[in-house]
Amino acid sequence: MNTITVPLQDRSYDVVIGSDLLQNMQSLVQQVHRATEYFFVLDQNIETTHGQCAANSFSGGVKSFVLQAIESNKTMQSVESIWDAMLKEGYDRHGIVVALGGGLTGDVAGFAAATYLRGVPVVQVPTTLLAMVDASIGGKTGINVPIAQKDGGVLLGKNLAGSFWQPALVIADVSTLKTLDDRQLRCGLAECVKHGMLGHQDVITFIQEQNEGIFARDVDILLSLVSQSVAIKANVVAQDEREQGQRALLNLGHTFAHAIEPMSALHLFHGEAVSIGLCAACSCSEALGLIDAEYSDNIRTLLTGIGLPTRLPMPIQLEDAMVLMVKDKKAVRSQIRLVLPTQDGAAVVDDIDEGAIALAWASVGATS
Ligand code: GLY
Repeated sequence: MNTITVPLQDRSYDVVIGSDLLQNMQSLVQQVHRATEYFFVLDQNIETTHGQCAANSFSGGVKSFVLQAIESNKTMQSVESIWDAMLKEGYDRHGIVVALGGGLTGDVAGFAAATYLRGVPVVQVPTTLLAMVDASIGGKTGINVPIAQKDGGVLLGKNLAGSFWQPALVIADVSTLKTLDDRQLRCGLAECVKHGMLGHQDVITFIQEQNEGIFARDVDILLSLVSQSVAIKANVVAQDEREQGQRALLNLGHTFAHAIEPMSALHLFHGEAVSIGLCAACSCSEALGLIDAEYSDNIRTLLTGIGLPTRLPMPIQLEDAMVLMVKDKKAVRSQIRLVLPTQDGAAVVDDIDEGAIALAWASVGATS
């Protein structure tokens, strides 16, 4: 078992990474928080498996709310339903929310905890690789917000409301990855590659060399993979909890990804959109002379080896991609701000020449 601390003064917390941890959840939680009442928010997919296993470890039993973890449920309505269930069960400020599932469950449950009675503690228990290495660490919680469109339609603005609400503890039980399907595992690996691209060639090499073991769900390899990635993210968050500077580097590839992820015809999961976004970011960097062609080729080869897409599954209009990119909340007053790879890390780049961005989109299959 590895323990990595996210050092944030009075908001510091541990990320415990190990195998078969769910069976001992109560004792892990009670080491950091002496709550007597636990309220589980469970991803419906794992309710009767990991959810049941974790609940059984709590001697006094637990109350729970089951969330169908789909993007259209990442809403204020779900948060209100959680508040409602907690109020009905009589939870006061001594209660603690336990979020068990993927990133979406953690984001919604985290936001409900941040706002219930002006804030109760939350323990994040991620059961997907993506949530273990990214979503559960760093305290970002939130929901999508409907935005009325001029044509009368409604678009869901991703993560447009939320709060920074650091968990009291994160428990990453890599045994849960045994039942995670390969597509979801690949999505988590896209975020691990992103972390490697922030100047950690050792992580890139590890993924290259241990690809087989990762997909065979070798517990020691998964433990090492998750620990390396969590350590990188913990370090970035510790330096810049509220994303005033360095933390923006974690958005590498994401401004491209957020433009294509909502395009329903593409059927892309977040990690797949990130993979294509990383490739587009490489092309943009190459055009700006920040990296050489060999760097881009290596990243594309790595992503392809994992089984992640490096190009769009079907062409999209360059213009549509550009419009959505400006809508992304990482754009500053309609200027596109990108995080781009450099030879030895990544950098936030403002006022990028539109030609370089167009070239990046074209490199992943957008057409004008
Ligand atoms: N997922 C990016 C961040 O936590 O800042």
